[in-house]
Amino acid sequence: MTDDSETHLETHLRDMPHAGGEMPPHDTATAASRTSSRPSPQHPERMTFRKPPETSPFLDYEDYFRSKLDGLKSEGRYRVFANLERHRGAFPHATHRKGDSERKVTVWCSNDYLGMGQHPAVLEAMHGALDRSGAGAGGTRNIAGTTNDHVLLERELADLHDKEAALLFTSGYVSNWATLSTLASQIPGCVILSDAGNHASMIEGIRHSRAPVQVFRHNDVDDLERRLAALDPRTPKLVAFESVYSMDGDIGPIEAICDVADAYGAMTYLDEVHAVGLYGPRGGGIADREGLSHRLTVIEGTLGKAFGVVGGYIAGSHAMCDFVRSFASGFIFTTALPPFVAAGAAASIRHLKASAAERQGQQANVAKVRARLAKAGIPMMENQSHIVPVMVGDPVSCKRISDRLMDEHDIYVQPINYPTVPRGTERLRITPTPMHTDADIDHLVAALQAVWQDEGMFNRR
Ligand SMILES: Cc1ncc(COP(=O)(O)O)c(C=O)c1O
Repeated sequence: MTDDSETHLETHLRDMPHAGGEMPPHDTATAASRTSSRPSPQHPERMTFRKPPETSPFLDYEDYFRSKLDGLKSEGRYRVFANLERHRGAFPHATHRKGDSERKVTVWCSNDYLGMGQHPAVLEAMHGALDRSGAGAGGTRNIAGTTNDHVLLERELADLHDKEAALLFTSGYVSNWATLSTLASQIPGCVILSDAGNHASMIEGIRHSRAPVQVFRHNDVDDLERRLAALDPRTPKLVAFESVYSMDGDIGPIEAICDVADAYGAMTYLDEVHAVGLYGPRGGGIADREGLSHRLTVIEGTLGKAFGVVGGYIAGSHAMCDFVRSFASGFIFTTALPPFVAAGAAASIRHLKASAAERQGQQANVAKVRARLAKAGIPMMENQSHIVPVMVGDPVSCKRISDRLMDEHDIYVQPINYPTVPRGTERLRITPTPMHTDADIDHLVAALQAVWQDEGMFNRR
């Protein structure tokens, strides 16, 4: 992404829940200007949807909901969920239910990247903990909800990232939201430098902090450096970015960002959500693979993707984790993850620390899928990761192609439309796993080729 990535971020922000209708430019806004110039989040576009006074002075809420949903539908970006039933031990196959019909499909868009959600070691650990400790944690971490399974999992995570400590959250979204908002709001005067491609959870955490934010161009270290250089050296700073960007599959320049951050006295915050379990000799992510874990102030990850369970975390120094533990409302005021979830996640991490077979199998299948699609003339975005974005470029076609793959070929790939990706870059995001067979790959390529042909997509280039 180049210059328009800032625009992308701003439009993305406008579409976020609670963003309200108007946002000043993200990179120049101060806390004061941001709070004063936008409408109250509780009353977005309040005048537009009021019924005429002769009918009623009150907002017709149902009418408002429907008209907003109709807007999404008319743009072709209304989200329709696929009702799946996953089959134990049979990943990536699932039953898809639609109306009265029920059929077996192959899932090609799961973030259970290595099939660990079905791994026997994970399931055994979860069954064991369920039988030992029951269902829920029974409280917040502070009040009765810290179990031995949480403590062991945090140790496992700290070790995974070669850090002193780790802290669990209920999801990766919450870990980003809570940590970024806490660090930026609790360090007086802190300025956030945020990559334009950052995930919604990071953006929301930054917004919630009300700290001044500068959005640097995606993966552009020079732009970051210019912005850092312009700040008072005494200003506390935090550079927030990702390793693998989930939709384009490109990878952040971690070392170069750490170099400039060090030169200007900034902390570094790296989201490794789409990399943990998948890269590095023990699955510690891209920073682990590149020997850079020690350069990062905070490494954030999820237990819900390659580790196949659910939950989020940060890893870093004792003092940093203790600070977030002590000041983050998103950590303090919520029930802890169930102990059996923590036990399953720990088993998954332990397994992937010792076994590279899943990572190698995934990488081999990613290479196969890419080579086969390239040969078939299907357009893909190039990248160095496990994510294969097949480019469609139109929301209505994207949805129709996805529907046809499901209905005619028993292949499930969810369409990805705005605001998850910029308009005009709508795509099918394919995520090959080690469990897809050669026959699955043959079937995917043949199906895509047939639908592409039928939709006239080959002539569109
Ligand atoms: C880059 C990134 N960070 C954080 C998250 C949130 O992680 P989780 O799904 O565990 O809430 C996602 C989710 O897709 C993501 O893509």
